[in-house]
Amino acid sequence: MTLIGTDHSTSTRTAPTAPGALPLLGHWPRFGRRPYRFLSTLSAVGPVVRVRIPGYDTYVVTDPELVREAFVALSDQGMMIERAEALLGEGVTVLQGQRHRRERRMIAPAFAKARIARYAEVMTRLGAQRAESWRAGQVLAVNEQMHDLALRTVAGALFTGELGAETAEHIHRLLPPVMTLLSRRVTRPAWIDRLPLPGNRRFDALVAEMKAATGAIITAYRAELAADPDLDHGDLLDTLLKARDENGDALTDSQVHDELINFLVGGTEAIGATLAWVFHELAVNPEVERALHAELDAVLENGRAAEFTDLARLDVTKRVVLETLRKYSPWLTVRHVPETYVLGGVEIPSGSMLFVCPVAVHRDPAIHPDPLRFDPDRWLPDRMAELSRGAHIPFGMGARQCPGNIFALTEIALQVATLGARWRLRPMPGIPVRETVIGALVHPQRLPMQVEARRP
Ligand code: HEM
Repeated sequence: MTLIGTDHSTSTRTAPTAPGALPLLGHWPRFGRRPYRFLSTLSAVGPVVRVRIPGYDTYVVTDPELVREAFVALSDQGMMIERAEALLGEGVTVLQGQRHRRERRMIAPAFAKARIARYAEVMTRLGAQRAESWRAGQVLAVNEQMHDLALRTVAGALFTGELGAETAEHIHRLLPPVMTLLSRRVTRPAWIDRLPLPGNRRFDALVAEMKAATGAIITAYRAELAADPDLDHGDLLDTLLKARDENGDALTDSQVHDELINFLVGGTEAIGATLAWVFHELAVNPEVERALHAELDAVLENGRAAEFTDLARLDVTKRVVLETLRKYSPWLTVRHVPETYVLGGVEIPSGSMLFVCPVAVHRDPAIHPDPLRFDPDRWLPDRMAELSRGAHIPFGMGARQCPGNIFALTEIALQVATLGARWRLRPMPGIPVRETVIGALVHPQRLPMQVEARRP
């Protein structure tokens, strides 16, 4: 038997099983319906807990040090991600091993700080347009507004300039129906995808249309770059086309396309959900909202849009973003255990699935006291210094840590500041805000809010 993990010398234990499994379905309904609530109960059961998911031997890590260890030791996601290959192609999200490492190195320049400052221009512009489009008294479906803003912003940062605007608009129309169809596919057996059903045909047609749209702009950019190699569009596509590996080889058109789709899918849902939760939490925490507004009034004179250079002075805004990502982070990342793995003295058999769940850590009262309280001051520098590195992991860790983390933090802070400088969103009385699971994220199911002007 081969062992991976750190403490092989001591005797190993078996993991305790989480209570409350249903006959046949195990814990799956609790995961699927209320993952935040279920996961926040697991740290009391143990640092590594066995859960019953039909068909899989599954373990959940709840201890921040062990979360870190697992993220470093394991990077293969196994069969769950394979189901998304029809859309994600051969992008970083799907690649494994050496190919994954090569592609991660190649996409890294796309997220370098100097590039983020360029994308920030798109974030500011689209945030300002959105603020301009709202009217006092209007009732908004805030989750839809934020999803749309997030999609437009990632698409806008992929392709800037005149040439790109049309493609960004085209992708903006295609992606939502593709994602709806994809989320149905990942939860059903693979053979159904190959049947000539209307949903499958529509999915294939939409993916082909997306490929054609990005293919056309890739060809156009390549022609421009051939004529002028120093040309810089300042967008993600430009960086991908210029990326080279250690042998000087570039990405193929198909690989560039796949990475663009990976960025769109990776960025949109998570940013949209986080923006929506920010405005919900502000509405139910008036003191936090007042502190945020005071900061915005001091930094953004006359309610102007926030720019990249303002971020250094937007401390409350940044703490609000970190706290929202703590409370509402993705609930699940999955790792395949290729050979027997000893984690925190617990033996995890080869072939198991390990769920590394940020929320199990983020809502553990031993790590973040009173975890349901929305308290941005947790992220004051002296309080942050007391936390271990695995205590705040909305972007994961290790080889698969989200490459878009700085992009995301920048976008959310700029857009919260820009919208919040002009408007306050009020909750609608009598409409409870419920959580709904979409993939690895929890969104507000419905979030109608009324727009109130903060200045004439
Ligand atoms: C609030 C926003 C975001 C959150 C919470 C988030 C979260 C995550 C997490 C937890 C992972 C790791 C998954 C794993 O370990 O299996 C990940 C991976 C990834 N994210 Fe993000 N993400 C966000 C925004 C973005 C943005 C803006 C982009 C691109 C523009 C992006 C692109 C990706 C990609 C391509 C991967 C796959 C990385 C790999 O497998 O090597 N994400 N994200």
